[in-house]
Amino acid sequence: MNLQEIYESKVVTAEQAVRKIKSGNRVVTGHACGEPTDVLAAMVANCEAYENVEIVHMVPMGKAEYLKKGMETHFTHNAVFVGGCSREAVAEGRADFTPCYFSKVPELFQKGYLPVDVAIIQLSPPDKNGNCSFGVSNDYTKPAAKCAKIVIAEVNDKMPKTMGDSFINVSEIDYIVEASHAIIELQPPKIGEIERAIGGHCASLVEDGSTLQLGIGAIPDAVLLFLKNKKDLGIHSEMISDGVVELVEAGVITGKSKVLHNGKIVVTFLMGTKRLYDFVDNNPMVEMYSVDYVNDPVVVAQNNKMVCINSAIQVDFMGQVNAESIGLTQFSGVGGQVDFVRGANMSKDGISIMAMSSTAAKGKISKIVPILDEGAAVTTGRNDVNYVVTEYGIAQLKGKSLRQRARALINIAHPYFRNELILEFEKRFNCEF
Ligand code: COA
Repeated sequence: MNLQEIYESKVVTAEQAVRKIKSGNRVVTGHACGEPTDVLAAMVANCEAYENVEIVHMVPMGKAEYLKKGMETHFTHNAVFVGGCSREAVAEGRADFTPCYFSKVPELFQKGYLPVDVAIIQLSPPDKNGNCSFGVSNDYTKPAAKCAKIVIAEVNDKMPKTMGDSFINVSEIDYIVEASHAIIELQPPKIGEIERAIGGHCASLVEDGSTLQLGIGAIPDAVLLFLKNKKDLGIHSEMISDGVVELVEAGVITGKSKVLHNGKIVVTFLMGTKRLYDFVDNNPMVEMYSVDYVNDPVVVAQNNKMVCINSAIQVDFMGQVNAESIGLTQFSGVGGQVDFVRGANMSKDGISIMAMSSTAAKGKISKIVPILDEGAAVTTGRNDVNYVVTEYGIAQLKGKSLRQRARALINIAHPYFRNELILEFEKRFNCEF
């Protein structure tokens, strides 16, 4: 059979494809903006045929109907990162959360901790050699597909073709479901005064020629706003969104100073609008690799002047960062935070920044606290942390004693909470602030 015949022999409807899933199977699905929405919808419609099908993924951006109340007998969910659609189910005990560095998620599948029965993925149409691109989401999706017993691919003609090591051959796919729908989009967040102040402080720490990792949300986007006068920045990041396109077009992001993948933007997944997806399509400047490569701290460290910018829910007086839970309630996950903090720490002249607003819950709660909330996870440990930034300034913690750290952090807390934090400081350290 030639490639076209091989391709056609595998084409089925979504309804036919999901009949290959059996009760008790573990199904790993593509996630974030790469979620294979048509096949997932067919799987949910076929729910009466299943008992205890375990769904594993990270960021849920689609409807996640398998998580709705009443679906528990058909589907169990094991979240490696909790998001808007899975938070309630995890909190109510209808779903589970498994902690894992993002860089190590592929290992869960490859080394038999979570063997994959079925991988449901979304791809671009094949090129003349039969290679389909993982498009906006390579991350753990490609490694899961590579070790799954059955691979179901939603082949979407709207999926951009991304370069790098971002392909799978038609011969490695068992069932193909053809689709033609827009890729899920994430609209740019609103950037307010607080985010702008934080963005300005972060940008002041970024030198020309730095390589950046930026998380998701308003703060990373605000940082980008203040980088317009920098020169020859590079990107080696878990993800990027639309803000990066603007800086490439403005000639600020060139990647010319990068040691590793010189001139290239290296990422593992993308979340943005069609503008971003059009930019990456067939663009050799953007290289996508699996997350066990992109987020590997040893790989990250090969970039000089690596600057990673992530966020936090709470930072305690010692500099311990909780970025994933509100007390005992799992809010998100470690994602790539520690991967990049450690990579930046090992990089020549690298720095890591935790950037957050000084308060939460409309100003009612200080994010700088004497002690993390009971049950809160320590995401980044005190020995790894360096810069903490709020709208009130920059606290540099590396090389500082516990007492000096607490002082530096209180100085960037919201003024409304500083007096009570100072009282705690004086009790703990037995001295005046
Ligand atoms: N106490 C109680 N509630 C808190 C809180 C605190 N200390 N800090 C935040 N919250 C609440 C906020 O009020 C908000 O609630 P709302 O949605 O009802 O308004 C919610 O938690 C989200 O807070 P926000 O500050 O807007 O979060 P964010 O969207 O900027 O995300 C993290 C911050 C830390 C959750 C996020 O960056 C994350 O998950 N990080 C870990 C993963 C990671 O770093 N990946 C790396 C690169 S992608």
